[in-house]
Amino acid sequence: MENKELKIAFYDACSYDKESFSEENKNFLFNIDFFDFHLTEKTALTASGYDIVCTFVNDTINRTVISILKKCGVKMIALRCAGFNNVDLEAAKEFGIKVARVPAYSPHSVAEHALSLLLSLTRKIPQAYLRTRSGNFTLNGLTGRDLCGLTAGIIGTGKIGKVMAECLSGIGMKIVMYDAYPDNDWAEKKGFTYIPLIELFQKSDVISLHCPLTDDTKHLVNEKSLSMMKNDAVIINTGRGALIDTHALVKALKKRTIGGAALDVYEEESRYFFADWSADVIKDDMLARLLTFPNVIITGHQAFLTKNALKAIADTTLQNILDFTEGKELKNEVK
Ligand code: NAI
Repeated sequence: MENKELKIAFYDACSYDKESFSEENKNFLFNIDFFDFHLTEKTALTASGYDIVCTFVNDTINRTVISILKKCGVKMIALRCAGFNNVDLEAAKEFGIKVARVPAYSPHSVAEHALSLLLSLTRKIPQAYLRTRSGNFTLNGLTGRDLCGLTAGIIGTGKIGKVMAECLSGIGMKIVMYDAYPDNDWAEKKGFTYIPLIELFQKSDVISLHCPLTDDTKHLVNEKSLSMMKNDAVIINTGRGALIDTHALVKALKKRTIGGAALDVYEEESRYFFADWSADVIKDDMLARLLTFPNVIITGHQAFLTKNALKAIADTTLQNILDFTEGKELKNEVK
């Protein structure tokens, strides 16, 4: 089949996706239709007549959706992200639909965003920005904290966690880490230390989450682990929302037993993130409450959003599709 004949339904398409994929597609010449809505049980029939669906983090790819995709003639799900916790892999296997992902694009994009969130939180940049924009140059209430000399606890030392650890070490923080599969050679070379998770919760001034969302890591930050943390510790989450039990976090923030949180992801983000709710009512009381704390910063899952990462995502996704259609080994297959 010629690339031009192969039809790709591209869900949840934003302007930056269209730009980066259209640019990279000049090298592949696939026939891509961009849809601005999510793939869900209600929209899955729109895949009728398409060979491949290209999806993102908040598309629903459960058993029902996969069974509809199968009936529509879809042969491959091309994820344009690293995480695949939203895909029912067993159902995909059962229905004979291949799943591929983009395992790495730019770990720097995510780690640098995590670092920006941390610095913004500890130096109260959002408050300072709003003040100076309205001509208020006072400093009361803006006292920050030097990170140099404090301890950063990194949970998950894969591609992103490693870059984050190295960035924080660069500003003089002491690095402690936890990973289910530690990379001892790297740690030794860098002079960083793996410690048990409980100890990490107790010792860290900054806790940054970089592990995948699995049954083991769901609600890793919960009432119990929050109670172990220092009262002025801050939590940075650019991993996945459900790594944190939001109810427990809100409770700790209200009791002031935690210093603050900077979140790029949120447990129930799929309804709200990537959409404009500014003229509507946010009905999710947890999200609405989080937005009221002065010591909480939320960004809408934008850690991946750099030009470098978008180019790499488009290139790898389209290459995955090409490998699949040419019957080559699908090296980024998720099984
Ligand atoms: P990676 O696969 O390179 O690293 C993940 C690390 O977590 C590995 O070292 C693994 O051993 C460790 N791990 C696995 N289970 C664990 C457990 N139970 N406890 C502690 N550590 C465990 O992944 P990468 O590229 O570093 O990405 C990390 C996560 O960041 C992704 O799973 C994804 O959810 C999230 N992410 C968020 C983005 C955003 O825009 N906010 C963009 C890209 C990724």
